[in-house]
Amino acid sequence: MRLNKGAGHIQQKCLFACMLYFQLSKQLIFFFLSFFVVNTYLFMVQAQGIMIRENMRTIGAQVYEQVVRGAYAKRNSSLNGTDYPLDPNHNETLLQTTTFLPEDFTYLPNDICPERLPSMKGPIDVNMSEISMEEIHRLFAKDPNIKFGGHWKPLDCIPRWKKVAILIPFRNRYEHLPVLFRWLIPMLQHQRLQFAFYVVEQAGTQPFNRAMLFNVGFLEAMKDLDWDCVIFHDVDHIPENDRNYYGCGQMPRHFAAKLDKYMYLLPYNEFFGGVSGLTVEQFQKINGFPNAFWGWGGEDDDLWNRVQFAGYTVTRPEGDIGKYKSIPHHHRGEVQFLGR
Ligand SMILES: *[C@@H]1O[C@H](CO)[C@@H](O)[C@H](O)[C@H]1NC(C)=O
Ligand SMILES: *[C@@H]1O[C@H](CO)[C@@H](O)[C@H](O)[C@H]1NC(C)=O
Ligand SMILES: *[C@@H]1O[C@H](CO)[C@@H](O)[C@H](O)[C@H]1NC(C)=O
Ligand SMILES: *[C@@H]1O[C@H](CO)[C@@H](O)[C@H](O)[C@H]1NC(C)=O
Repeated sequence: MRLNKGAGHIQQKCLFACMLYFQLSKQLIFFFLSFFVVNTYLFMVQAQGIMIRENMRTIGAQVYEQVVRGAYAKRNSSLNGTDYPLDPNHNETLLQTTTFLPEDFTYLPNDICPERLPSMKGPIDVNMSEISMEEIHRLFAKDPNIKFGGHWKPLDCIPRWKKVAILIPFRNRYEHLPVLFRWLIPMLQHQRLQFAFYVVEQAGTQPFNRAMLFNVGFLEAMKDLDWDCVIFHDVDHIPENDRNYYGCGQMPRHFAAKLDKYMYLLPYNEFFGGVSGLTVEQFQKINGFPNAFWGWGGEDDDLWNRVQFAGYTVTRPEGDIGKYKSIPHHHRGEVQFLGR
């Protein structure tokens, strides 16, 4: 079903594009017969492109890393918006044990919530089993502080990031959304953030346009409330550590630094996919996301470039804090980004 929709789109493109190549290669006749082959072929070409890019990146990344380290070293640690450590190599063990507030910490309703709260315990044993949306409703209906539309804010202190909007681009993954909510809602509550979710669903049969959905979601969310901080969250990425603080900072933040599907390694230094966060000001300064990326992939790299052009340096959670589990699925039958 899905495959046919995707192939239909290619077919339309082919009427214009493939015809031109018709005389160049008889092989292309085959493409008209089997659109699935077209899809696979494009994917293979794309995969080869990625491999070349990766090799280029490994060289570039080493140079870049030095630049970033130098910039970090020069900066002051007197940040107000957030207290992310500035040293990317600092000791994770020390952080886990000493810099979080003790259990008996007293919250003051008139004070800003601290960022390293005792309620943030560290690694979560994520339950990836499917759960129904009804069950999620049932679980969270017990919490009287969750207001209409899923709005929540802490009552025992003033949230540091006053309003955090979580935008989730969406199509067809009905079984993923409740799995995400099950972990994300308690996590954000542990972090004492004021938050709400916006699930931005794409209608129609066009290839998925993740970036455009974020732009749409941003505009719609801002009509709803004057949010301070916007988190761009893939539906299938589940944070594994509740110390991964979903507040924005003075710099755009990339939260999903270590994905299980990439063996918990950053695939490349400029990787900006999965889950990222920008203040409204930062988002406006980079002029939002690109609208031109139809299909999977590419848009996150463009976003990285936009952030660099605006003079920002992306921050990431340190150590294991940036670990994420991804709900397994594959994009088979969905059109890959064709413009690379
Ligand atoms: C860092 O902080 C110190 C004291 O607070 C100040 O004198 C200095 O100018 C600051 N440096 C930068 C680069 O902001
Ligand atoms: C941080 O906040 C305090 C109190 O709100 C303020 O006095 C101080 O100037 C701020 N520092 C910076 C670097 O913004
Ligand atoms: C980090 O700190 C802990 C506790 O002080 C120490 O045992 C460990 O060796 C340190 N690790 C590194 C990489 O410095
Ligand atoms: C995981 O979630 C499923 C479905 O809600 C539940 O049946 C199961 O007991 C949970 N497993 C653990 C280890 O909590």
